[in-house]
Amino acid sequence: MRVHVADHPLITHKLTVLRDRETPSPTFRALTNELMTLLAYEATRSVRVVEKQISTPVTETTGVAIAEPRPLVVPILRAGLGMLDGLMQLLPTAEVGFLGMARNEETLQPYTYAERLPDDLSDRQCFVLDPMLATGGSLAAAIQFLFDRGAVDVTAICILGAPEGIAKVEREVEGHDVTLVLGALDERLDEQGYIVPGLGDAGDRLYGTV
Ligand code: URA
Repeated sequence: MRVHVADHPLITHKLTVLRDRETPSPTFRALTNELMTLLAYEATRSVRVVEKQISTPVTETTGVAIAEPRPLVVPILRAGLGMLDGLMQLLPTAEVGFLGMARNEETLQPYTYAERLPDDLSDRQCFVLDPMLATGGSLAAAIQFLFDRGAVDVTAICILGAPEGIAKVEREVEGHDVTLVLGALDERLDEQGYIVPGLGDAGDRLYGTV
C-alpha cells in the first residue's frame, strides 16, 4: 500500500480550523469541501487517461481524456458524504456509488448495511471517501468489498488518519493495489477509538448532531 500524507500549508491551515471545537457545522462543511478538492488533486495523480486527438483553432494536437470505464467514487456513509462534492468538483464525470458500513457491537466486526454500486467493477479505478481512518476496520472492509467486485485499484482519501488504522488497512489489503491519501497523520487513538488530536466525530460535526 502506498501512503501519501499531504504536506501543504493551505491544507494544514484548513485542517487547523476544522479541528477547532468552536468551528460551527456550516464552516466545517465548507472547509471539508475545500480540503477535499486539494486532497483530490493529489489522489487523482494516477487517474487513467487515454490519448485524444483534437483540433485547436491553430492546429491538430494530442491531449488526453479520462479513460473508460469512468472512475467510481464511493463515499462511506454517513461522514464520507461530506467529502463527495469536493471530489466531484475535480472529477465531474466520475460515477458515484454508496456504501454504508457499521460495526456489529457484539462481534466488533464491520458489516455492510447499505450498498448501491455497480455489480461488476472489473477494470474500475475506485476512490473511497472516509474522513477518519481510526481503527481501520470499516475502510479495510470497504476496500475489500470493491476488490471482491473486480476493482483493479483503489485510492482511499481520508482527512485524518491514526497509525493504528493505517497498519490495519495495510494488513488487510496486502497484495492489492491500494493508495491511501491523508490530510494529516495524527498521533494515536484514545480509549474510545477517537483520533488524537483529531477533530471529534466527523459525522456529528458535519451534520450538526453535537
Ligand atoms: N470517527 C470519527 O468521526 N472521529 C474519530 O476520531 C474516529 C472515528
